[in-house]
Amino acid sequence: MQTHQNHDLLIVGSGITGLYAALHARSLGLKVLLISKANLESGSTFWAQGGLAFPTSPEDIEPHIQDTLKAGRGLCDEQTVRLFVEEAGQHLHKLLSYGVPFEDHQTLEGGHSHARVFHAWGDASGRAVSVTLTQAVRDQGIEVLEGAFVQALLISESGRVVGVQTQNQNHLAGAVLLASGGFGQLYPVTTAPEEATGDGIALAYRAGAVLRDMEFVQFHPTVYLAGNRGLLITEAARGEGAILLNNHMERFMQQYDPQGELAPRDVVARAIASEETRTGKVFLDLRHLGAEFVQHRFPSIYKRLLSQGVDISTELVPVSPAVHYTIGGILTDVNGKTTLDGLYAAGEVASSGLHGANRLASNSLPEGLVFGVRAVDAALKDLKFEDPASRTLLETVDSKASVQQVIRDGAGINRTAETLRVALSDLPRPTPSNGTIEELEAGNLSRIAETVLRGALQREESRGGHFRTDYPELDEVRHSLFQIPPLLETL
Ligand code: SIN
Repeated sequence: MQTHQNHDLLIVGSGITGLYAALHARSLGLKVLLISKANLESGSTFWAQGGLAFPTSPEDIEPHIQDTLKAGRGLCDEQTVRLFVEEAGQHLHKLLSYGVPFEDHQTLEGGHSHARVFHAWGDASGRAVSVTLTQAVRDQGIEVLEGAFVQALLISESGRVVGVQTQNQNHLAGAVLLASGGFGQLYPVTTAPEEATGDGIALAYRAGAVLRDMEFVQFHPTVYLAGNRGLLITEAARGEGAILLNNHMERFMQQYDPQGELAPRDVVARAIASEETRTGKVFLDLRHLGAEFVQHRFPSIYKRLLSQGVDISTELVPVSPAVHYTIGGILTDVNGKTTLDGLYAAGEVASSGLHGANRLASNSLPEGLVFGVRAVDAALKDLKFEDPASRTLLETVDSKASVQQVIRDGAGINRTAETLRVALSDLPRPTPSNGTIEELEAGNLSRIAETVLRGALQREESRGGHFRTDYPELDEVRHSLFQIPPLLETL
């Protein structure tokens, strides 16, 4: 196996966090390698619709902090939230300087007390960010490795993370930043793309890192189900005035929350699930917004649903909640530092304390900016070059579908001790072996599934993205932590 040894920093993942962190690292003079499982323009960022939440003025900083804390249902780390909102604005200016074409008008989304969601290319905000930052990375000649699957972390004799192993190469560096996203693919129906198999989380877990709050999985309220694919209909649609109707054509959200259609996401998702059970179906209605406005404001959704036979500007759109964002992840401090030396994490892969039990809409892309930069700054002060002595174990499961089925039945939007216990006993466990990328991804998902199920079983309360029908009330505020002895093989 070839070994490459000449980088200061390895960044794994090419969503907003990885691309922006790579540009920042380059501006500090670091020699960086950006590793992406697919091509650079991929991952969840590319598909993000609604946009990016930034305080719109100094007076909006405190309301943005309070909205984030409120949505997080008592589980946010207030210091993390404060510095996130205070620092976010500077990154908006940086994105504008790279040429992200944000439009002038900002939109409301669920849980926001003020219209502060910035968008670009109508409803393709993530794509606009991804394309712009990818171009900047290429223009600056940052070294990239596309189509490279990271199988293992490399660990030194002292226990430091000193690099990663892709399929036929070892890459060593002074520090490693995981920016590899979440694990939406743990569920059979999700808005998350195929790449979102939680690889970074599983790798860090095998290396002995602490994971936190894995049971908090966020369901997006308004997803159009096209077979097994979940087509997202942005919350910005409700921000622009779209309403929800049950199968009796009744507008129901006011009965669940005074904020109506713009209540935080966990409330709207559960209300839709309950109206589906009660009346059979739920619809999103954009018709009163006018065909011209809808087609201009939501051009990608309009075209995508038209190809499924639904004209969102003139017809009711059947919607259901589906898995969208995974809140739990690798425990980090406010500088992206994990519990392992040499290993940093930022974005959806991390649990930074920003989201608590329920992420506020459109806080996740700015999270990648703020904490990606903080992680690079911290890594720069902590570069150490050591030889690898071992790597994390390679583990496989035969099929992703076998894990997804168990999780769908056991840890959906409503959970009980019984569904969780059955899922824990039925879950396919990983086998130590090398395999295809798909088998290794399924191995990663299986490791993650166990933490989701254990966390959900032990959390005997309902809070944000975790709802137990057998414990519908809040209990004490506490985090769930997960750690195993390192699973390593000697090199
Ligand atoms: C959406 O556009 O509704 C998604 C925004 C988000 O998940 O933050």
